[in-house]
Amino acid sequence: MAKLFAKKPVDRLMEEAREVGEHSLKRSLGPINLVALGIGAIIGAGLFVRTAAAIADRAGPSVVLAFVVAGVGCAFAGLCYAEFASMIPVAGSAYTYSYATMGELVAWIIGWDLILEYAVGAATVAIAWSEYANRVLDWFGLRIPYQWAHSPFEHDITSGGHGIINIPAVFILLLLTLLLIRGTKESAFVNGLIVILKVSIVLLVIGIGWHFINPANHTPFIPAPATYVTPQGITHSYGGILGILGAAGVVFFAYIGFDAVSTAAQEARNPKRDMPIGILGSLVICTILYVLFSYVLSGVATVQDFRSAGREASVAFAITKYMTGYEWLSKSVTVAIIAGFSSVILVMLLGQSRVFYSMSRDGLVPKVFSDVHPKFRTPYKSNILFFLFTGVFAAFIPEDIVGEMTSIGTLFAFILVCAGVWIMRASRPDLERGFRVPAVPIVSTLGIIVCGAMIYGLGWTNWMRLLVWLVIGLVFYFSYGKQHSRINAPPPEMPEGIQLTR
Ligand code: ALA
Repeated sequence: MAKLFAKKPVDRLMEEAREVGEHSLKRSLGPINLVALGIGAIIGAGLFVRTAAAIADRAGPSVVLAFVVAGVGCAFAGLCYAEFASMIPVAGSAYTYSYATMGELVAWIIGWDLILEYAVGAATVAIAWSEYANRVLDWFGLRIPYQWAHSPFEHDITSGGHGIINIPAVFILLLLTLLLIRGTKESAFVNGLIVILKVSIVLLVIGIGWHFINPANHTPFIPAPATYVTPQGITHSYGGILGILGAAGVVFFAYIGFDAVSTAAQEARNPKRDMPIGILGSLVICTILYVLFSYVLSGVATVQDFRSAGREASVAFAITKYMTGYEWLSKSVTVAIIAGFSSVILVMLLGQSRVFYSMSRDGLVPKVFSDVHPKFRTPYKSNILFFLFTGVFAAFIPEDIVGEMTSIGTLFAFILVCAGVWIMRASRPDLERGFRVPAVPIVSTLGIIVCGAMIYGLGWTNWMRLLVWLVIGLVFYFSYGKQHSRINAPPPEMPEGIQLTR
């Protein structure tokens, strides 16, 4: 019993971190790089694809308020992440933090749960990538037929044909997995370019689209409570407070990634000061952009558009249909999105291999996840296994389902992180914290409440999916992880020159 709650000593964590640091990670990132890293990982399918789904299924124009709710929830959780990151500045994430604070079982649950955030999240963005990739092919008179670019659970509203497999989504995952195996680092320069591209496109859509807002589309701003049944037969609460909370759960996806900044703690020049700036700075910038962008998108096109043909590649669709004379913007958006999504997928796949690398070194998952390629020094077997896993999700499951699973899984991890900060204040008040969350336990409790409210809004189908996922995880833990845990053994030697950085 005691073992379930055995904690990894913080000092040992730091020791391991130093070991990795000596071998490969350079402390080269300043506050601006960290904010750029955050924005690079944050703006993606959540904004350019999931916003339309939230408008259509849950909230209509009140999606704007949903972005505010999700942003507030992330700010509370972000403060808690920042305290952890400044206290335990090691390459890891919620998994590492919780191993040190709440013990092995909770760490396992978070690590398992992070598969939803990173791997299932990568599958979601890959599916969104496929929508926009098809638009690019359209320009050249080519198009991948519906059945080869959709899961079997989707059907074409116009022709009635069914999907079979989403080949473009699998393709982009394969391509990026191969890049990761080669150890290709997305350089700070490329990341910087992509960030500039994404932010410029968002600003252009806001600035130009503002003139095309049709006030009728914003009336009523909060639709009356009702239910909406999606083409896949799933019933959602639409309108009212519940609609806003559900939409917040959906668009929460758009914020995922700011915690990726915390995984770069070992590469930050001055983690204690710069991690909170990186995490909160990227969050604030994105929230402002999201609120304005969703106001414009929901004002330009109708809810009905997003329930039919405009559901896919929604931003390009809305521009082409309503903003006459701006086809160039529609095309630029599409190109920026294709590039931007690729960088988000890369960060997510990398985050996934990092977490499983740590878990594997701790003995909680098999050693195969920390086997390093003899030449490229990357955890290539782990990359291949996760390609197979994400590929199956991307190929055969609809975007709505994987997107909402990602959101609910991450929200759950955030709740545990908020609780962890509080627990740590009580159990290890002695540890030095470069950044302290103000007014604990009020802020951490508010984080738990707001994230909990979004989980509530996502509805029972998502609760069941999360529950099933966690039960499968517990079966794994009790049949494998618990026996193989190295909590009481000396850590295995760190391989030379391992590449786990972006
Ligand atoms: N926040 C990232 C996105 O929206 C995951 O694609």
